[in-house]
Amino acid sequence: MNAPHAREFLTLHEIVAAARANLAPGPWSYLIGGAETETTVRRNRQGLDSIALRPRVLRDVRRIDAGATCLGQRVRLPVLLAPIGGLETFVDGGAAAVARGAAQFGVPQMLSSVCQPGLEETAAAADTLRVFQLYVRGDDAWVDEHVRRARDHGYAAFCLTVDVAMYSRRERDLIGRFAKPWRANAAAGRDFQAALSWDQVKRFQDKHDLPLILKGIATAEDAEIAVRHGVEVVYVSNHGGRQLDHGLGSIAVLPEVVAAVGDSARVWVDGGFMRGSDVVKAIALGAQAVGLGRLPCLGLAAAGVPGLVRALEILEEEILTCLGLLGVTSLAELGPRHLAPAAPVAPPGALGAFPLLGE
Ligand SMILES: Cc1cc2nc3c(=O)[nH]c(=O)nc-3n(C[C@H](O)[C@H](O)[C@H](O)COP(=O)(O)O)c2cc1C
Repeated sequence: MNAPHAREFLTLHEIVAAARANLAPGPWSYLIGGAETETTVRRNRQGLDSIALRPRVLRDVRRIDAGATCLGQRVRLPVLLAPIGGLETFVDGGAAAVARGAAQFGVPQMLSSVCQPGLEETAAAADTLRVFQLYVRGDDAWVDEHVRRARDHGYAAFCLTVDVAMYSRRERDLIGRFAKPWRANAAAGRDFQAALSWDQVKRFQDKHDLPLILKGIATAEDAEIAVRHGVEVVYVSNHGGRQLDHGLGSIAVLPEVVAAVGDSARVWVDGGFMRGSDVVKAIALGAQAVGLGRLPCLGLAAAGVPGLVRALEILEEEILTCLGLLGVTSLAELGPRHLAPAAPVAPPGALGAFPLLGE
C-alpha cells in the first residue's frame, strides 16, 4: 500500500491523494462517480461552496464541545457513516472493519444491505451505535425478516433508502466496464424497488417499533408526508449525486425540509460533505446530523481503518477550529445568522473540497 502511516496524515488533502494512489481505476470511479452528467454531484459541492460563514469575535472559546445526540445516544461529532454498498472494495473486512473504526472514534455506522459481511457479523465486530439500511428487493415478509434480524442484533433504527426507484446510469462505471459483484442479483429485486410506495411505509410503522429513517427525501412535500407517517428521521439525500441527475444540491434542499419537518422528526442530510466547515453549515441550517459517504471510503482506501479514524480526527479538528472562529462553543449556538450567501470560488465536483490536489 502506497501510504504513510495514518498518523502522518495532517490534512484531508493528503488522505484523498493517498486513496487515489491506492485504488485501481474501477473502484476509484465507482467511489467518485455519479449519475450521467454528474450535475447533481457538482451541485452538492456547489451548494456548500455557495454559503459563507459569518464569524463573531471576542468570545471565550477555550472549551468547545462538538458532541451531539443521535438516536438518544451521545456521539463525538454530529456525523454518521452513511451506508456504502461494497465497502469490502475499499478495505479488507468490509463493514466489520468499518464498525471497529466507528466504535474507536465514536460515531454511528449505517450498514448497507449490499455490503459484506452481513448485519450479524458486522454487529458482532464492535459495539457502536448502528443503523441498518435496506434496499427493498423483496416482498413484505422479506422486509419483516430483515427488521427482525436488525432488531435482534442491536441496530438502533431501520433505514429505507427511497431514492432508488430506478437504478441510475453511472456512466463512469459503464465506460470502465466495472462489474460490481453485489449488483449481480439486483435485477431480481428491481420491481420491488420500483413499486415501493407510502403504503409500505405505513405498513412498516403499523407493524414494527424500530425507529424508521427514510433516506433520499429531497423536497418539502415528501418531508411533510414522511412526518405524517411518523418517521423518526427525514434524511435529506440525493445519494451523493448517484441517482437522479440534475437534482438540487442537498444543502440547498435542507432549509425547506427543516421548515416542513419542524419539531416532528429529526433531519439528517448528506451529499458532498467533506470538510468540517461543511458540517457546521448543515447544523447551522437545522440538521441534527450529517452523513459522510465518500470521505470515510477515502480514509479506508488511504490507510485502512486507521485511515478512516484519522480522517474523522482531522474532520473533528476542522469542526472545532470552525466553531471557535465563529465564536461558539457548542453546536446548539449555531444558526442561520452564522451563514451568508456567497459565490463559490472553486470548481465543483466530488473532489471540489480539495483544491490543492492538482497543485
Ligand atoms: C461507493 C458508494 C456506495 C453507496 N452505497 C449506498 C448504499 O448501499 N445504500 C445507500 O442508501 N446509499 C449508498 N450510497 C450513498 C451514500 O449513503 C450517501 O448518501 C452519499 O454517498 C453521500 O454523499 P457523499 O458521498 O458526497 O458524502 C453510496 C455512496 C457511495 C459513494
